[in-house]
Amino acid sequence: MAALRLASVTGGTLRPHLADVARLRIAVFREWPYLYDGDAASEERYLARYAAAPGAAVVLALDGDRVVGASTCLPLVEEGEAVKTPFVTAGWTLGRVFYFGESVLLPAYRGRGVGVGFFTEREAHARRFPGIDTAAFCAVVRDPADPRRPADHVPLDAFWRNRGYAPAPELACAMRWKEIGAAEETPHRLAFWLKRLAPGPA
Ligand SMILES: CC(C)(COP(=O)(O)OP(=O)(O)OC[C@H]1O[C@@H](n2cnc3c(N)ncnc32)[C@H](O)[C@@H]1OP(=O)(O)O)[C@@H](O)C(=O)NCCC(=O)NCCS
Repeated sequence: MAALRLASVTGGTLRPHLADVARLRIAVFREWPYLYDGDAASEERYLARYAAAPGAAVVLALDGDRVVGASTCLPLVEEGEAVKTPFVTAGWTLGRVFYFGESVLLPAYRGRGVGVGFFTEREAHARRFPGIDTAAFCAVVRDPADPRRPADHVPLDAFWRNRGYAPAPELACAMRWKEIGAAEETPHRLAFWLKRLAPGPA
């Protein structure tokens, strides 16, 4: 089995890699629980924030030269209102929080530690920023009785808890995307998970 390697790309140099992130997001988020019917135009809108954010990083998973996975992060202050607002409402100082956007890995490469590496790399990047003491990400909330849920689906909750993250019930947001089979974008509820970042290495 070929060795996989991770490479972190930061700030102004990550723009050329956003096409890979878009390709992977469209492929991976097509599956449950996201059911995202992605297209280049909505990806460009979404990823523009990373291109513009000086504090952003993309961690790439590479099989040789082929990008097979990607994971993103940026300071919460550089995120959009939909993500920032729940923190403001809950009384957070935005400058304390680093936001982790997504992790997407092609199915053939899962279970080999890349997802763990994505968290380690992003947390290391976040710790370089003065004042940051918390990492946050959000995940879509689905009705457990949703008939579209595959019978063999394993939720990532245990994986996230094992990385030190816990749900923050007071924080939730809505993001719009077009689901497979839908005529147009609809709002989807996402719940936040947080981890306190101690100074120093993960
Ligand atoms: C989230 C995602 C990137 C995780 O990727 P992954 O590479 O399969 O995850 P890992 O292999 O690092 O970890 C999975 C488990 O396997 C273990 N593992 C298996 N083989 C391993 C190896 N060779 N080395 C290290 N850990 C290994 C890990 O320890 C972990 O178990 P734990 O939580 O009990 O510690 C992947 O499942 C994915 O793309 N999912 C779809 C998209 C998604 O839902 N993303 C999250 C929301 S944005």
